[in-house]
Parts: sequence; C-alpha cells; structure tokens
Amino acid sequence: MSKKISLTRYLVEQQRVDGKIPAELRLLLEVVARACKTISQAVNKGDLGGVLGTADSENVQGEVQKQLDIIANEVLIEANEWGGHLAAMASEEMEGIYLVPNRYPQGEYLLLFDPLDGSSNIDVNVSIGTIFSVLKKPDGSVGVSEQDFLQPGAQQVAAGYCVYGPQTTLVLTVGDGVAMFTLDREQGSFVLTRENVQIPPDTKEFAINMSNMRHWDTPVKRYVDECLAGKEGPRGKDFNMRWIASMVADVHRILTRGGIFMYPWDKREPEKAGKLRLMYEANPMGWLVEQAGGAATNGRQRILDIAPSKLHERVSVVLGSRNEVERVTRYHLEPGSEA
Ligand code: AHG
Ligand code: MN
Ligand code: MN
Repeated sequence: MSKKISLTRYLVEQQRVDGKIPAELRLLLEVVARACKTISQAVNKGDLGGVLGTADSENVQGEVQKQLDIIANEVLIEANEWGGHLAAMASEEMEGIYLVPNRYPQGEYLLLFDPLDGSSNIDVNVSIGTIFSVLKKPDGSVGVSEQDFLQPGAQQVAAGYCVYGPQTTLVLTVGDGVAMFTLDREQGSFVLTRENVQIPPDTKEFAINMSNMRHWDTPVKRYVDECLAGKEGPRGKDFNMRWIASMVADVHRILTRGGIFMYPWDKREPEKAGKLRLMYEANPMGWLVEQAGGAATNGRQRILDIAPSKLHERVSVVLGSRNEVERVTRYHLEPGSEA
C-alpha cells in the first residue's frame, strides 16, 4: 500500500529540501489549513449548525454578508492571530487591515483572504471555498500599515484555496508547482492527492456569467461569440460552458481538466475595473494557475504584475488554459479594441 503523505509532512519536507520554505511560513500554512478544516465542518453542518442565511450587515464592498462570511472570517482571525508568524491580516470582510494584538508576538508575514468565496451558493448546497494569499512584510518597514500589503502578486510567497464541495480539497503553491490535498475526515488531516498539477494549454470549455453579455466590451464578446459559433465558426470546434458562480469551484475545475474563466470589466459599473478583488481573489488564483502552466491576465496585462493601489482593488480576470487566455488578451490588445 502506498504511503499517505499528510499536509504536515509535505510542508516539513518543503522546509527541509533546499529550505524551500522557512519554518515560520510552514507554521502559517498549517494554521490556515486548520482554520479551513473548521470552516469545512461548519459548511457541512449547514442548517443543523444554524450557519445558513443572511446576517444583518454589509461588508466594505456594500455586499450583504452571509452568516458564513462572518463565521469564516472569525475562524481565520482567531486561528492566526496568536501563532507569532503574522504581522497583520486583511480580508474581504474587513475594511481595514487587522493588526496582530499587542499581547501576541509579531511575525514577518501578511495574510490576505476571501474567507468565504461563492457566498450566493452557501444556502443552495453548492461548492464554496476560502482563498488566501501570503506576502512578506517589506524589509525595513517599522510597524505595519496598509501600504505594506500593496505589493504585486508576483511577490506572493504562498497562495491557495480550500474548496468545500463533495470533497474538501486544499490547493497550495509556494512557488514550486501546485499540490492538492484532500481532507480525510476520519483522520482529520489533509492528505496529498495530486502533485505537479498541470492545466492543458488548450480547452473546449469556457466559464463566464453569460447574463452580462450585453454589458461586455468588444474583445470579450468577440471571443465568446466565436466559441458559441462552434464547428461552423472561426474556431472550427464546439465549446462547452460551465459557470458555478464560486470562483474557487470554477478554478478547481480548470486546474483539474483545463478551461478558461473570465470575469471581465463590464458596462454596468464602468468605474470599477471588474467584480473580483485583486489582492485576495485574482492574485492567489492567478499564481496557482501560472504555477500549473496556465496564464492569468486582466485582458491586457499579467495579473501578477499589477501594482495595487488599494486593499480592496477590483480587477478584470481572464485565467486558465494558456492558449485561450493568450487569445482573449490578444483580442484586447489589437488596435481598435475598446479601452
Ligand atoms: P464572494 O462570494 O467572495 O463575494 O465572491 C463571489 C464571486 C466569485 O466567486 C464568482 O466567480 C462571482 O462572484 C460570481 O458572480 P455572479 O454572481 O455575478 O455570477
Ligand atoms: Mn470571492
Ligand atoms: Mn467572499
């Protein structure tokens, strides 16, 4: 029987082999994984745990919060604040950064998260997840401020997500490829189930919220029209469409069998760059996808190269199978395409 490798062992080995990750980062990732286990339990209980439904509040983005958005946020904060590995945290559900309280030691890392991604799917028993990104506090900065978080995604030292679906799966990169760990509920631990995940460069599957079609920019419309035209169209092949409305679940499918995911800028709210958030949605997912051989752009430039100007910055997202992402990006960059 082949030996099972737990997340703990995987991380210890990453630390030992060429010192790929420092001990502090290993501890941080263990704690995030533990928090995800707790969130997974709450998600699994559903109505039995009284965790479904809407809370009586809005987050900084003006979105109505679900009970689970708040619970997941609290679980992540409580798990991470006392370990000594973090300087501060930032979350979709909190307007400002969360400083590690004075009574605990301060570490060098910054943790960002979308505690519960796919909120509209919570109450309908469809896959949801937690997305996280880890940065290092810039050298020489005294104390910690929001400014310290405003680093391009290329500076991430770890990123991942945990999807709460038929299985609970933690997906992780520390810059050495992508590994997947499935939660073994009897053992209570994450077990390595896939390593060196690779996204096929070509695909016949696209994911986009088609109900927004009339609001899209010309390059996105052109790309999707060509997919819809199928065998008889310029692409000469039929495409399939999937839209789960949980980025974690859509990205998980793409890491598993390829595909392209788009949440582009649209004319509904032209002043916003997109719906998704750069620092705790697009950056971690963009890095995972790149680490698996895929690509991630905002239609014009690599997501990981964007220099953020604020914590809750939004961004247009095109990610997945490399040749398709390059095509969409090319359509945007062609002369005459709308700004
Ligand atoms: P969140 O629940 O964290 O606010 O994120 C939801 C996001 C993302 O997960 C998903 O891809 C997208 O919103 C779905 O948007 P639509 O409801 O417009 O399809
Ligand atoms: Mn989200
Ligand atoms: Mn969320």
